[in-house]
Amino acid sequence: MGLQRVVRSSIVDAPIERVWAVLRDFNSHDQWHSVVAQSEIEDNKSSDRVGCVRNFTLADGNHIREMLLSLSDKDYISTYTIVDATVPLMRYVATVTLKPVTDGNRTFWHWTSSFESPPGMERELRDMVAHGVYEAGFANLKKYLALGQAVVSPASSLRQVVASCHAIEAPAIRLRDYGGPSEMQLETVSVPPPAEGEVRIRQTAIGVNYFDVYLRKGWIPDFLPLPGTPGMEAAGEVIDVGPEVTSLLPGDRVVYMCPVPGSYASVRNVFVSYTTRIPAGVSDNTAAALLLKGITADYLIRDLGHIRSGTRLLVHAAAGGVGQIVCAWAASMGALVIGTVSTPEKARIARDHGCQHVIVGRNYQFSQAVQSICDGADVVIDGLGSAAREENFAALARCGHWISLGQASGPLQDISPDWLVQKSLSFSRPVAFDYVATQALLNERAERVWHALRTGAIKTPEIETFSLRDAALAHEKLESRSSTGAIVLRGV
Ligand SMILES: NC(=O)c1ccc[n+]([C@@H]2O[C@H](COP(=O)([O-])OP(=O)(O)OC[C@H]3O[C@@H](n4cnc5c(N)ncnc54)[C@H](OP(=O)(O)O)[C@@H]3O)[C@@H](O)[C@H]2O)c1
Repeated sequence: MGLQRVVRSSIVDAPIERVWAVLRDFNSHDQWHSVVAQSEIEDNKSSDRVGCVRNFTLADGNHIREMLLSLSDKDYISTYTIVDATVPLMRYVATVTLKPVTDGNRTFWHWTSSFESPPGMERELRDMVAHGVYEAGFANLKKYLALGQAVVSPASSLRQVVASCHAIEAPAIRLRDYGGPSEMQLETVSVPPPAEGEVRIRQTAIGVNYFDVYLRKGWIPDFLPLPGTPGMEAAGEVIDVGPEVTSLLPGDRVVYMCPVPGSYASVRNVFVSYTTRIPAGVSDNTAAALLLKGITADYLIRDLGHIRSGTRLLVHAAAGGVGQIVCAWAASMGALVIGTVSTPEKARIARDHGCQHVIVGRNYQFSQAVQSICDGADVVIDGLGSAAREENFAALARCGHWISLGQASGPLQDISPDWLVQKSLSFSRPVAFDYVATQALLNERAERVWHALRTGAIKTPEIETFSLRDAALAHEKLESRSSTGAIVLRGV
């Protein structure tokens, strides 16, 4: 028996973090590779743990058990071996190596393997590995990444689960009148079976965002008609899937952000296109604390702020949910990060997250300090709104960019072009949901957030948890300016 060797490479049209997220999950193949009908990791081990064994049932009925031999997040390399199979591949060892393509957001995938085969079957087995496994794998993976969902295949039809036809009674927060936190009351609501394209999720962790306060107060009434349930994001377990959903199964862990409020609930239906998988090693709590805020930081830093080494960046509420992430991420890119906070304790937290200069005060007076630190900010990330209007203008450098993403102190009055022209300022009023308008975009941005967490560019967020029934207390805390980091509600 001679040693066979198969080598195949391809360029995949997705950033390396996204491709690596798929590859480093040793249990992901049944999501994207059409030859794999089912995959499970034995003994409940984590799917990124060296030594774990995956058990494949192939679409043609064969079985293969493979062990993960090495996994490097630094070098993007995964090596594995067959430990047992109904196909005669012996001493099979394969290595996948990813490299970023220099011209941008694409990835070079290199697959190499060696194995022995019974005499007379060399060619057949070489062809099977080269074409049936590797080349088919490239085609499936590209489709999967482009669609942001599983490839429909004979294998995935095996996975389609028809939703249970019963409604589920479950607790949810209902708002009957706009107003203070006490308007949010826990009630029991009926959650129907998921409709076409939807999944029903048992929510374990619900992210609280300042936006939820604006909705509760009725500042954006069209967004939350009454009676209604606030909340834009949550994490949990899929409990059943509607017709035409092929990319998720009951038991899958997902997190979502969704432009339709309703996440302050124990069970909820959402379109599968708003969901993304939670990677192994990230808890539901962390996912719910991080998805919307992390994606907000991602678009602020990359798309709007164009943050790079030396950018003079002013971040308000620097110890808050979005603030901590923006500060740490921008500092890791070499930006000069200046934060405003209301207390010395928050100043310490902001420094821990990469703020080099922290301005402490509750009265929105910061422009002089910013001017004396760096002669004005290139970019201001402003979640404060009305009370800081004139100070933001004064803190900006010539040709600066004012990004108004929120209004914790009250709605920002009109900003006139004649005012901006005095310093050639630009002004943006972004909303996170526009930056994840497709599932492919959501997956790509989420992947950058998980990658930043893995590499330490951002830290696991500080999280304060409340029971869903205490949503009112969570809002009181957020509005009192006494919270730091993220707030998460536990499903009940
Ligand atoms: N447009 C988008 O896509 C998007 C997405 C996510 C978040 N946001 C916005 O980003 C900002 C931060 O959101 P977050 O959820 O992470 O909240 P957060 O920063 O954790 O909490 C809000 C913070 O704002 C500061 N603040 C200043 N004046 C305040 C006032 N009058 N009332 C209450 N808080 C005040 C407080 O920090 P100090 O006490 O330290 O000043 C407070 O801790 C909000 O404006 C939110 O609307 C926008």
